Amino acid sequence: MAMRYARCKGGASWSADNIPYDALARDRVRDDTHLFYTVASASFIEITSDLYTYNLIEYFRHDSEVVEWLQNVWQKEELQHGEALRRYVRTAWPDFDWDAAYRHFLAEYTPLCTVDQLAPTRALEMAARCVVETGTAGFYRMLSEQSREPVLKQLAARISADEVRHYKHFYRYFLRYQAHERPSRAAVLRILWSRASEIEAEDAFHAFKSVFLVRNPETEFQRSDYTAYVDGISRLAKNHFPLGMAVKMLLKPLGLNPVLGRAILPAATSAIRFIFMRHTGSPTPSSGVGNFDKRRQAPGASADGERPSRLL
Ligand SMILES: [Fe+2]
Ligand SMILES: [Fe+2]
Repeated sequence: MAMRYARCKGGASWSADNIPYDALARDRVRDDTHLFYTVASASFIEITSDLYTYNLIEYFRHDSEVVEWLQNVWQKEELQHGEALRRYVRTAWPDFDWDAAYRHFLAEYTPLCTVDQLAPTRALEMAARCVVETGTAGFYRMLSEQSREPVLKQLAARISADEVRHYKHFYRYFLRYQAHERPSRAAVLRILWSRASEIEAEDAFHAFKSVFLVRNPETEFQRSDYTAYVDGISRLAKNHFPLGMAVKMLLKPLGLNPVLGRAILPAATSAIRFIFMRHTGSPTPSSGVGNFDKRRQAPGASADGERPSRLL
């Protein structure tokens, strides 16, 4: 099972071998528990991309250009993101047993992983994919911009650039299918909104839980551990998520003039917040939990490292 990611190496523009892991400033991240959970969880979700994407490729099976890009570029790059993040985790936090935690994640999450519900038409599905890529592009840009550790800064910037490129491909395919199917603007808006607001963060929850259990083998996992983590992420996102970029990307498939674009800005902004949560945690309202229970503090982690008010 642990080898399922070994075949995922490669990608169109860069690979994990291009990342200077030797230069990683471990002292800047070693005690940053929140960053550890974020990067480890992201590595699990990215490296398991093929579990989510089979039905998408099947949906476009009649379109050889799309299928080829999905299989040979998009999926490989998503898996490569997972591989590169996995290497980062192993270098930055060498005591963490990544394989054991990932095995736990797969065992727990795979039976729960139902295929995504696809949009009723291919044009709308392409628009929906733009939503997901927008969320990931924004997340990794935030991770890069806020990172005090130069290797992570570089890695997250590369991943964010890939996600933006994925967005551009999906948008181009959207335009092509739109020309044939001619979905109304209302239908496009509905799919953008529903794909964003119906997102569940089950993958993020199980990724966090698996990381937590392996890092804290003597501690019973409680839902409040996850809630506290998500609260910290939410606070960071509120100030640092590149909402302007994300909203611009999200509105593009609607082909709105600037006036109309400004009118729906609040709804689009809410949608982007939902999307972001998928990759960092659930859209749980703030619980007001300020600190993890000290009993749960990981060996070697400082009290500050446990405080969710600072992520990176
Ligand atoms: Fe990715
Ligand atoms: Fe992507």
